[in-house]
Amino acid sequence: MPSPLLSEPLTLPCGAVLPNRIAKAAMTEGLADRNLHATKRHETLYRRWSDGGAGLLITGNVMIDRNVLERPGNVAIDPAPDHGDPAGMEGLRRWAQAGTRNGNHLWMQISHAGRQSPRYVTSRPVGPSAVQLELMGNYAKPRALKEAEILDFIQRFANVARIAKEAGFTGVQIHSAHGYLLSSFLSPVTNQRNDRWGGSLENRARFLLETVRAVRTAVGPEFPIGVKLNSDDFRKGGFSHEECLEVVRWLNDEGLDLLEISGGTYEQPRLLGHRGDASTAREQDVAVRRSTLEREAYFLDYAEGIRKVCDFPLMVTGGFRTRSAMEEALASGNTDVIGLGRPLCTDPDTPRNLMDGTINETVRHEDNLQLARRGLFSPASPLLPLKVINVLGGQAWYYQQIFHLADGEAPNLKLGIPRAFGSYLADELKTAFRMKRGSKEAG
Ligand SMILES: Cc1cc2nc3c(=O)[nH]c(=O)nc-3n(C[C@H](O)[C@H](O)[C@H](O)COP(=O)(O)O)c2cc1C
Repeated sequence: MPSPLLSEPLTLPCGAVLPNRIAKAAMTEGLADRNLHATKRHETLYRRWSDGGAGLLITGNVMIDRNVLERPGNVAIDPAPDHGDPAGMEGLRRWAQAGTRNGNHLWMQISHAGRQSPRYVTSRPVGPSAVQLELMGNYAKPRALKEAEILDFIQRFANVARIAKEAGFTGVQIHSAHGYLLSSFLSPVTNQRNDRWGGSLENRARFLLETVRAVRTAVGPEFPIGVKLNSDDFRKGGFSHEECLEVVRWLNDEGLDLLEISGGTYEQPRLLGHRGDASTAREQDVAVRRSTLEREAYFLDYAEGIRKVCDFPLMVTGGFRTRSAMEEALASGNTDVIGLGRPLCTDPDTPRNLMDGTINETVRHEDNLQLARRGLFSPASPLLPLKVINVLGGQAWYYQQIFHLADGEAPNLKLGIPRAFGSYLADELKTAFRMKRGSKEAG
C-alpha cells in the first residue's frame, strides 16, 4: 500500500518545496580527483540516487579547507591556488545537474573536519583548542585557531554556499555535528578557549551562529539552508542535550529551513548506533530503550524534546529501517523528514519502494557487518583498537558500496568485511598520496 505520509511534499520556510519526506543523509563519497574537484563518479552516483526517489539528497561533506579534510578524496572548495579554478565549477555543475534530474532537491553539505582529520591527510589539524583526539594514534594534536582564522572560515562557509548555489545545488547544509570543527566548538571538552569563542554556551555557539548568518547573507532569503546538529555528544563533559535545546532556540531566529538531528562523535559513534570507549562515555548514557520505535531510530526520543523548542522543520537521521516507524515518527509530528543513510548504499531505490509500498522495511546489512559479535573483535571488546577496527570495517563496507554505485555497478552484497577494510585502507592511502602530489604541483 502506498504511503501518503512519506510521499507528502513539505514547504520549507524559504518557500522551496521538498517533493516528499525522505532524505538521503550525507555520506562522504571519497571520489574527488587530485585537485579535490567533483568527478564523473559523483555524477553517476547522484544520478542513481536521484532516480531512487528521495525528495532531498544531501551530499557528503564538501570541505572549506583543503589541508584539513575529513578523508582523502573529499571535494574541497577553498581559495588555495589550484589551476586557476579553485571551485572546480564545471564538475560541480555536472554533479548538481545529475543529482536533481528527477525534480528532487540536492543540498551541498559544507564542512570543516577540525581535529578529526587523520594523520595521512594532515599532521597539523586545527580546532578550538589543542585537545587531541586519542584514537589509535591516527589523529595529530590540533593547533588552536586564531580569531582571524575563525573569521576567515566563516567567510569560507559563506563563499562555498554561494558557489553551491551558482553551480545549481538547490540548498546547503552546514555540518555542525559528529565532532567536526563547528561541533567541536560547541563542546566544552574540545573548546577550552577563554576568548569570545569559548567558555559560556553563548560563546561556544558563536561560530555556528555567525556561520549561519554569513551563509544566509551569501545565498539570499529564498535558498534553503539546513544545519546538522548533535542532539547530544554522548561524551563525558561534552555538548549535552540541554545545551542542544538552547542552541536550537537561538537558531530559531536565524531563518533556517531544516534542522537535522544526529548525535555522537568519533569517540562515541552513536550516529551509527555504536558505543565508543567506556572511558569517554557518560554514565547516564547507558540508554534504556523502551519501545521498538526508539530501538530503531536512535535519536527520535531526543527529537521529541527538540520539536518542542524548534520553530522550523526537523529531520531525524539514524537507524530508521521500517516504514511503520517512519510513518509513526512523521504522524507524531516529532519529525518532518526521515533521513536515511546506509540503506541507500545497498539499495538506492529504497525511498521509492518505501513510498509506493513495495517494501515495508529496508535491509539491515549493518547487523551483519561485524568481524565478530563476541570475543575480542566484538563491539563490546575492552580493547579499543579492535573495537575501532570493527566499527571501521563496517564503515569501509559501505564506502565500497558507494564506489560500486559511482562506477555504475550494482552493490556487492557478498563483499566480506576483511576485504572491504583492506581495500578501504589501500584506497585511502593511495588517494592521500595522489592528493598531496596534486597540491604540491598546484602550489
Ligand atoms: C558511509 C557513510 C558516510 C557518512 N558520511 C557522512 C558525512 O559526510 N556527513 C555526515 O553528516 N554524516 C555522514 N554519515 C552519517 C550519516 O549521515 C547518518 O547520520 C548515519 O549513517 C545514520 O543513518 P543510517 O542509520 O540511516 O545509516 C555517514 C555515514 C555512512 C554510513
